[in-house]
Amino acid sequence: MRDKIVAGNWKMNNNQFQTKELLNSIKSFEIPNDVRVMVAPAFTQLSQSNEILSNTSITVVAQNINAAVSGAYTGEISADMLKGIEVTTTLIGHSERRAIFRETDSIIKEKVKAALDADMEVIFCFGEQLADRKSNNHFKVVARQLETALFDLPETQWKRIILAYEPVWAIGTGETASPKQAQEMHKYIRNLIIENYNQKIAEDVAILYGGSVKPNNAREIFSGKDVDGGLIGGASLKAADFIEIVSSF
Ligand code: 13P
Repeated sequence: MRDKIVAGNWKMNNNQFQTKELLNSIKSFEIPNDVRVMVAPAFTQLSQSNEILSNTSITVVAQNINAAVSGAYTGEISADMLKGIEVTTTLIGHSERRAIFRETDSIIKEKVKAALDADMEVIFCFGEQLADRKSNNHFKVVARQLETALFDLPETQWKRIILAYEPVWAIGTGETASPKQAQEMHKYIRNLIIENYNQKIAEDVAILYGGSVKPNNAREIFSGKDVDGGLIGGASLKAADFIEIVSSF
């Protein structure tokens, strides 16, 4: 049985004071014990977050890694550095990394490999642009993103992969994919995994939806048979909203 997961991607928000306040507030709520909850603060707040959450089951996640083990990469952070501070899960391929920092499918593939080689867990983000959907190319684009980065991984490494489908047109826009559009894409993704691997791997991998998930739409989106939870941006910055989403299964 695959996990139900809700992960908060804080992006470049929250200094140390705001982090402390938000995490303590999240901790004050009851979290359903069949939902895996994760938060992804900025690199500078990862250790602090691990410390604050040490007596909880909430996983602290990095937002990015560099594919290199070490070396002359000014400003970058390696898998080994994250593991050194007990962060063993990372987002990879977020649409803001692809668009603003020009990360290509092949760069993202290297990052996935580096993270898995270091025994980290990967939340792999992908999704089409508005123009792709308008031209009815959304399935093709998603298939290419998955094929390039993931479909030559050995079967055993899929245990460490969580997928996060985030249509770019729904991120930070207030416009969500409809529950039907989300379910349709998630089912398509699961079928792709069956074609490239097998039923068992496809059934076990959690596929999250991301893009303007809010307390008032989470329940309907999560009701899709192949939707296993969400990757939450804006609404993860308010403890009550985040917890309401966590409780929307
Ligand atoms: P929003 O929930 O703010 O649309 O952001 C989604 C996202 O990018 C999560 O990674």
